[in-house]
Amino acid sequence: NSELIHSYKGVPFPTRVSIDQLSALDDFEAREDDVLLVSYPKSGTHWLVEILKNLYCCTAGQMTLTPPLEFQDPSKLCELRNLPGPRVIPTHLPQNMVPRQVHSKNCKVIYVIRNPKDTAVSMFHYYKQNPHLPTVQKWGTFLDLFLNGEVVYGSWIDHLLSWERAETNGNTLFVYYESLKKDLPKYVQEISSFLGLRVSEEEAREIAKRSSFREMKERVEREKEREKPEATHTVCALTSDRKLIFRKGAVGDWKNHFTTEQNSKFEALLGDRINSSELASNVEYEC
Ligand code: A3P
Repeated sequence: NSELIHSYKGVPFPTRVSIDQLSALDDFEAREDDVLLVSYPKSGTHWLVEILKNLYCCTAGQMTLTPPLEFQDPSKLCELRNLPGPRVIPTHLPQNMVPRQVHSKNCKVIYVIRNPKDTAVSMFHYYKQNPHLPTVQKWGTFLDLFLNGEVVYGSWIDHLLSWERAETNGNTLFVYYESLKKDLPKYVQEISSFLGLRVSEEEAREIAKRSSFREMKERVEREKEREKPEATHTVCALTSDRKLIFRKGAVGDWKNHFTTEQNSKFEALLGDRINSSELASNVEYEC
C-alpha cells in the first residue's frame, strides 16, 4: 500500500499529487482577487465549496472554482491564467508550500478548522474507502499515524500553526466546522462580508439549507442513481469521487472511536502544542 504515498519536504502526499507539481508551484501567478480555500483534509472542504458556490450565485457574483492548487499538471498551470476571476482555489497545503505570490498579492484566505479528534476519525474511514489512500484496518493503528503526523498532508497541528502564524494582514478568515454546525446562517453571513458580498438574512438561511449535510448527501446520491456522477469538479486532491465524502457530518463522533487510553495518548502527544495555539485551544469537541 505504501506506493500510494510519497513525501515532499518531509510531508506525506498521495501519489495523485505529483512532486513535479509541488515543486512547480512557485511559478503560479496569483491575483489580488483570488480566494484561497484552505483546509487540513476532512475538515469540511466540500461543505465550504458548496457554501461559496451558493453565496456567489445568490449575489449574482462571478467566481471560478479551480481544481486544488496541488492537483494539476505543471504544464497546465498556465491555463489557470485564462480563467475569469475571482478564482476560488481549494488547497490542503501547509502555508510554507503555497506559492509566494498568494501572500505578496494579499489574496484572501478562508481556513476551515475541525476538531482534530473528529478529523482523525473521518480520515480513518476515508483511508478505508478511498482507493488513492492506503487502508489501515485498525483504528488504533491509524490514530498512531495521525498523532505522529504520518498521514497525508502531515501533522494536523503543524498545518494549523503554519497558517495561524502566517502574516496575512487580516486577510485570513478562520472558520470552525463546529461553528458552522451550530449556526450556519450566521457564518454564511460572516463569510459573505469577508468576501465583500452582501446577503440578506433570508438568503443566508436559504444558502444554509442548500448546504446542509442532508441536502448535499441526497444530491450526490441522486447523481449516483442517474449514473451520471457530477465528476465535473475535483475539490480535494485526495479524490474526485464525491460519493466518498458524505459519511456522518457530525460533531463528536470521536466518542464512538476513542478509548480512554487513546484519549490520554492524544493529550500526551498533542496537548502542549494545542495549548500553544489560540485557534487550536478554542476548538470544540462536542456540540
Ligand atoms: P465525516 O467523515 O465525519 O462525515 P472534506 O470535504 O474536507 O473531505 O471533509 C469531509 C467531512 O465533512 C466528512 O465528515 C463529511 O461528512 C463532512 N461534511 C461534508 N459536507 C457537510 C455538511 N454539509 N455538513 C456537515 N458536514 C459535512
